[in-house]
Amino acid sequence: MTMLVARTRDELDTALKPFRTDQAGIGFVPTMGALHAGHAALMRAAREPASALVASIFVNPLQFGPDEDFSRYPRPFETDLELCSAEGVDVVFAPPYDVVYPTGDPAVTVDPGPSADDLEGVSRPGHFRGVLTVVAKLFGLVRPDLAVFGQKDYQQLALIEAMTRDLSMAIEIVGIPHVREPDGLALSSRNTYLAAHEREQALALVAALRAGAEVGSAGPDAVRRVGRAVLEAAVGVDLDYFEVRATDLGPAPESGIGRMLTAAQVGATRLIDNMAVQLGMHNGEE
Ligand code: PAF
Repeated sequence: MTMLVARTRDELDTALKPFRTDQAGIGFVPTMGALHAGHAALMRAAREPASALVASIFVNPLQFGPDEDFSRYPRPFETDLELCSAEGVDVVFAPPYDVVYPTGDPAVTVDPGPSADDLEGVSRPGHFRGVLTVVAKLFGLVRPDLAVFGQKDYQQLALIEAMTRDLSMAIEIVGIPHVREPDGLALSSRNTYLAAHEREQALALVAALRAGAEVGSAGPDAVRRVGRAVLEAAVGVDLDYFEVRATDLGPAPESGIGRMLTAAQVGATRLIDNMAVQLGMHNGEE
């Protein structure tokens, strides 16, 4: 089937009309473009259970701070369309600003609650309000049955799950593990900003997570200490945070599965990553 590109609400409604009657429903992958293998994995996960696959491409100004990279965020639209087509996307929704925000920056936004002031929210105030507002708007426009997000943005995924639960949105949210380069670097649209030497330096994030995972049996404090030490010793890397939490981002348990989350500045580029960690003793030794 030919992939359609919809720019307006009417074009989107027309493109999706034939699929609305189908039991299998509409699968949705919201993106900001600059697509890579990580996005392709999201599309495959959404394709499987749905009758129609919609991907949106919209660089949302509301989720960028004044000193962030909104204007230079990569926008390789034609290459993005090729990836969407290869992944069997039925409809690409690529709205201009005024289709998403017809009255300008909205007066009514989604309050992400107190957990948005943690982790990413400390360095990026207002970021998650912008993310949840645009995701809610895209959900309203696309009206999907299922939406797929990557665990690379672990806190974002947790907040989107909380939003759909707390605001009773009838949309199934699926989170899937993020994709890494063979050397471990987590795929990110922002990796294209990295010069060759910065790309090498950026490997400190995954090295810190792996070092943390190694000492998981000694508990969360040891994981935090080791992870931070790796990043603090890394050349060209400015550590923002390295934290260990429960999988729901509450306080880390002394034993059981936890989540390590980190953010650091490499040159002019802010990168994030996260990984599961087995804390304390396991296999019946707890
Ligand atoms: O993860 C992203 O690419 C963005 O935050 C999202 C979910 C598409 C909202 O703009």
